[in-house]
Amino acid sequence: MSQPLRIGKHIARYPVIQGGMGVRISAGNLAGHVAKCGGIGLVAAAGIALNSEFYNGKNYFQAEPEAFKAELKKAYQIAPDGIVGVNVMVALSDFEALVKAAVEGGAKLIVCGAGLPMSLPELTADRPDVALVPIASSVRAAQLIAKKWHKSYNRLPDAVVVEDPDTAGGHLGEKMENIGTGEYDQYATVRGIKEFFLTEYGADIPIIAAGGVWDRADLEHALAEGADGVQMASRFVCTQECDASDAFKQRYLECSQEDIGLIMSPAGLPGRAILNNKDNIRRYDLEHTSPCRMGCLKKCSYKESGERFCIVTALDRAQRGDVETGLVFCGSNAWKSDKITTVQAIFDELFGERLAA
Ligand SMILES: Cc1cc2nc3c(=O)[nH]c(=O)nc-3n(C[C@H](O)[C@H](O)[C@H](O)COP(=O)(O)O)c2cc1C
Repeated sequence: MSQPLRIGKHIARYPVIQGGMGVRISAGNLAGHVAKCGGIGLVAAAGIALNSEFYNGKNYFQAEPEAFKAELKKAYQIAPDGIVGVNVMVALSDFEALVKAAVEGGAKLIVCGAGLPMSLPELTADRPDVALVPIASSVRAAQLIAKKWHKSYNRLPDAVVVEDPDTAGGHLGEKMENIGTGEYDQYATVRGIKEFFLTEYGADIPIIAAGGVWDRADLEHALAEGADGVQMASRFVCTQECDASDAFKQRYLECSQEDIGLIMSPAGLPGRAILNNKDNIRRYDLEHTSPCRMGCLKKCSYKESGERFCIVTALDRAQRGDVETGLVFCGSNAWKSDKITTVQAIFDELFGERLAA
């Protein structure tokens, strides 16, 4: 029923991108297995050095590109012919170094959100085969990126991911007060961006819907509403292959719908997470990580004035299994997780032949 997904020069058998999940929730193992199953696997750059052999507690910016390349290598060992890409947040202090490391490490596509990746084509100019994919939550954001890229670099995005702030996990590209009001229309945004590229540039750019896609019915709905593919993140957490600790996955299995909500990140963006332990996060950081030691984000209220908490160490704690003081990011559907499964089983459910009625 579904078409393969072409992004730039790369064709995935199934129209699914596994969304990048920072601080080692989607590292080489998960991304490699998604690519092996015929989807597109993304290694997330944010905080990839933490909990790696490259980080010694003092060399964060040196260790990040090394750890990133090592995870890409791991993914390609799992899926030598697969499509493995990366997610690099524009808000990261070492955005440029990580984009360069991704290219060196053989990433076939670079997905960028948490800011507008205005200079991305310049950073990858010598590798035109690397597909460039911005994340946008509005038609306006996609237009700004397209106009700048077209004018300055004679290039357009190879795809656009449209992330729904009402359902996606992690950092969200919308103001807190505008989330959950019922006003945001994910598929109107998908169609609006599709239409913009067709009318403005005569370009049929694949538009990928992200946020709230859980099962086959959601996937079919997204395609019927005009998306060319979907990006799914939370659904892949409770797999054997996901790079998070068992305790992190267990948190997904145990949480209820009411436990999932919004937290204000020190990056100045709201984020969706499991909130039961949110008071412990700042308490822990004040005792153990104050003041900021890494400077991982360009703009961060914890770095600048000690406000809120240290997001990268809070996510790192959760990734390692300390879900009492760590931050567990998740999409609005995470409560639907009911068992630890495999990436292949998820692909079978999404794309396998339907049993004869
Ligand atoms: C644990 C977790 C970490 C995430 N980290 C990132 C990240 O580092 N960069 C990014 O652009 N998006 C991040 N996201 C967003 C996902 O890539 C994806 O777009 C979104 O969660 C899709 O919604 P879904 O989880 O309902 O499938 C994260 C999501 C989760 C659940």
